[in-house]
Amino acid sequence: MIIEKKPEIGKLVTFIPNKHTPVHNWFYYKEGFSRDFVELIIKHLNLGKDSWVLDPFCGVGTTQLTCKEIGVNAVGIDIAELPVFVSRVKTADYDVNVLKEISQKIFSEKFKRQDLSGLSSFIKKAFPRHVLEDVLFFRSIVEKIEDKVANGFFKLGLISAAIKASYIVKDGGVLKIIKDRNTPPFRKFYKNRIKRMIKDLENFKTLSPKIITLKADSRNLDFLSDNMFDAVITSPPYLNKIEYTKVYRVENELFFENTEPMLRSYIGDRVKEESDFRYEGLPAIAKAYFEDLRKVLLEIYRVLKEGGVGVFVIAQGVFPTGVVESEKIFSEIATEIGFQTEKMWLVNRRVATRDRVVKIGYAEEYVIFIRK
Ligand SMILES: C[S@@+](CC[C@H](N)C(=O)[O-])C[C@H]1O[C@@H](n2cnc3c(N)ncnc32)[C@H](O)[C@@H]1O
Repeated sequence: MIIEKKPEIGKLVTFIPNKHTPVHNWFYYKEGFSRDFVELIIKHLNLGKDSWVLDPFCGVGTTQLTCKEIGVNAVGIDIAELPVFVSRVKTADYDVNVLKEISQKIFSEKFKRQDLSGLSSFIKKAFPRHVLEDVLFFRSIVEKIEDKVANGFFKLGLISAAIKASYIVKDGGVLKIIKDRNTPPFRKFYKNRIKRMIKDLENFKTLSPKIITLKADSRNLDFLSDNMFDAVITSPPYLNKIEYTKVYRVENELFFENTEPMLRSYIGDRVKEESDFRYEGLPAIAKAYFEDLRKVLLEIYRVLKEGGVGVFVIAQGVFPTGVVESEKIFSEIATEIGFQTEKMWLVNRRVATRDRVVKIGYAEEYVIFIRK
């Protein structure tokens, strides 16, 4: 097995390049990777219009949307409601004239005072009062848009605009409320955002492969047939890193009914008692994480075609006791299931710290290629 150093890909496995990419940037998802990474892998694997790609941890749909641009069929799966919603909105087909008509109507509605009594104190603290009233007012209007596709479009614009106009600052895995932040005038801001999103659609070129996004738990993919996919392109949740549900608390509370249970992450949420030689000496959280990844890999093995390739972005985990070499454990598990680890690209190397200041080594990030 070959390990190649590819620092030039380091940035591409982050969401940062998407910030300036139309449609991909409709919702900022810190955990995401970039469209350019997905494009690079699609080309590297020579995938074409008859190929099927699976992303079992699809987040906000970077894989599906890039596949739509390039003309490759794709299925994306995520367990959480918010990213599934964002994926669907970004990959939907729109009639721009319908959106323009609805936009005109929405922004000519006269403001009606909103009842804030049902909101949590957290939400009330997260916004200037007049902004919160405006957000709720537009939420009530958007809820009434009958065209389901258009409804999602205006809802996503509203979610992003609301966060921008709030006191919320997302700092790593925590939400901070910064009251002296300058917040933009909400109505104007939301209107401009919708205008820009419509313009994005006018300039955004896509083809028409089949694109599907499902809300499900990838530890069990029994709704997918055997030998269906040519490739998997994905980045599983990082070991011991981001607290997904906390960071998106405002979005979930204000815009979705079924908020997810407050778990650390959906992979590794149950710590297993049984010991396993591979996991010896690992923190309990890491054991549970790899046990769950194993379940997902078993499913991926089943749904991949013979000769199909899985491409995974995997970072080492940082614990007070030291750095866990996730890529090695991942590759061992994959080999045991029947995959062959073909190569790894070392794409990032960051200083790993304990208590934010004490250096305990380096944490590396890899792109791992495994073949069935
Ligand atoms: C690192 S993010 C992937 C981001 C994605 N590459 C993108 O560009 O948006 C990992 C995702 O896995 C999802 N997830 C966690 N556990 C899951 C599970 N058991 N099944 C499906 N998705 C899961 C999380 O909700 C999160 O969106």
